[in-house]
Amino acid sequence: MSLLPLEKAALGAICALGLLVLATDIPSRRAPHAPAAPPPTPMALATAAAEARAAAGREEAARATVAGREEEARLAAVQNPPETAEALPPGHGREEVFARCTACHSTAIIRRSGLQPAAWDELMDWMTEKHGMPPLEGPDRALVVDYLARSFPPRRAPRGGANPFLN
Ligand code: HEC
Repeated sequence: MSLLPLEKAALGAICALGLLVLATDIPSRRAPHAPAAPPPTPMALATAAAEARAAAGREEAARATVAGREEEARLAAVQNPPETAEALPPGHGREEVFARCTACHSTAIIRRSGLQPAAWDELMDWMTEKHGMPPLEGPDRALVVDYLARSFPPRRAPRGGANPFLN
């Protein structure tokens, strides 16, 4: 089949138009998809998660430090200064008593007591059995009990008579 020159021209124009449409249209349709970033790799995801955790950890640590300092200051304000052996009356064995007996309580609980030597001796066993004091035996025990018995004997009642309820 043979085409007339006019038909050839028209066909050519249609083709050219079609190409033009394709050439301009395709990029415009692709444009919205083009800038999308490639999907993150598992490594990148893991790194980002680790960074987020580290940042959260730093924030938490900063908060804890502030809270800790406030708590320390509060405790310092309400606590008595630490005791020294001078809280006990002078005498042979004072240092030993202070070292052994103030791990769990202050000297106040000792100073307010007044006992016969045998009762102080018994108290050593009671501290060990009931409260977990390391057993005190031999010369150390004698030293401690002697000091306690000398320094904290049974108290006399205010009017001079022996107090039957104290011992
Ligand atoms: C392992 C801890 C511990 C050690 C060490 C310890 N005590 Fe105690 N002691 C206690 C506890 C706990 C109590 C309180 C008992 C109670 O509340 O009934 C106590 C109570 C006492 C009391 C009061 C008893 C009473 O009549 O209520 C005296 C006195 C005493 N201790 C003396 C001593 C002496 C002296 C020493 C050293 C030789 C000593 N403690 C070492 C734990 C200890």
